[in-house]
Amino acid sequence: MNVLFIGDVVGSSGREKVGDILPVLKEEYSIDFTIANGENSAGGVGLTKKTAEELFASGVDVITLGNHSFNRKEVVDIIDHPRVIRPANHPDIVPGKGFCVVAPAKSVEGVKEIAVINFLGRFNMPLVDCPFKTADNVLGNLSKRNPGPPVIIVDFHAELTSEKQAFGHFLDGRVTAVIGTHTHVQTADEKILPGGTAYITDAGMVGSGNSVIGVEKAEVIKRFLTGLPAKFQVAKEDIILNGVVLTIDNKSYKCTEIKRIIR
Ligand SMILES: [Fe+2]
Ligand SMILES: [Fe+2]
Repeated sequence: MNVLFIGDVVGSSGREKVGDILPVLKEEYSIDFTIANGENSAGGVGLTKKTAEELFASGVDVITLGNHSFNRKEVVDIIDHPRVIRPANHPDIVPGKGFCVVAPAKSVEGVKEIAVINFLGRFNMPLVDCPFKTADNVLGNLSKRNPGPPVIIVDFHAELTSEKQAFGHFLDGRVTAVIGTHTHVQTADEKILPGGTAYITDAGMVGSGNSVIGVEKAEVIKRFLTGLPAKFQVAKEDIILNGVVLTIDNKSYKCTEIKRIIR
């Protein structure tokens, strides 16, 4: 089977790009299941019911989040949707859930369920529990299901490349793929780790290719020049979609290939 993971979708122009390109990618790569990071889908920060529904209508199966999960108060209207997840290492009292187990809409031989788990790193990020220990707990809980989901995709939303690589190796052989998000800059280190887990430090974003991580350049430069607060606007020109396609063997459930997408 083929799983498409789309990096952080930025604003309405990012959502429109997903709507335009996703059907093409599904056809071209025979995509069975699509995951997108939606933490920037509402005006550049956060997720709302409207932006989530738009992504679902475009063909996204599961929406993951990150450090901007709760930037919009309207997120409460969608956070309990069965296919919306926020980082699992928030304290339990935080609304929402950190993983979901769903059936692919298209029937895939041998794969009845896919688990998607979201974690947040701990550097330059909100206060959260240890992602490593939380991952042990979540995977322990998933293994108690009978049968356990054969395919497990992890979105690790983090800033530090070292933390992301360490997390990939920590989960190597225990999950199908560890896909990094958050930096909005796609890295060229996609690989299959020694234990069989597919890995990339960052999938990238769906946003302006002529911007600073999806934001209008001028205001960001001004902020770096002055150190003063600035109001950021989503950049709307030259929108590119970044993501990865995972090819997963229907019998071993191992990822045989991870391919970067830039459109
Ligand atoms: Fe982001
Ligand atoms: Fe982020």
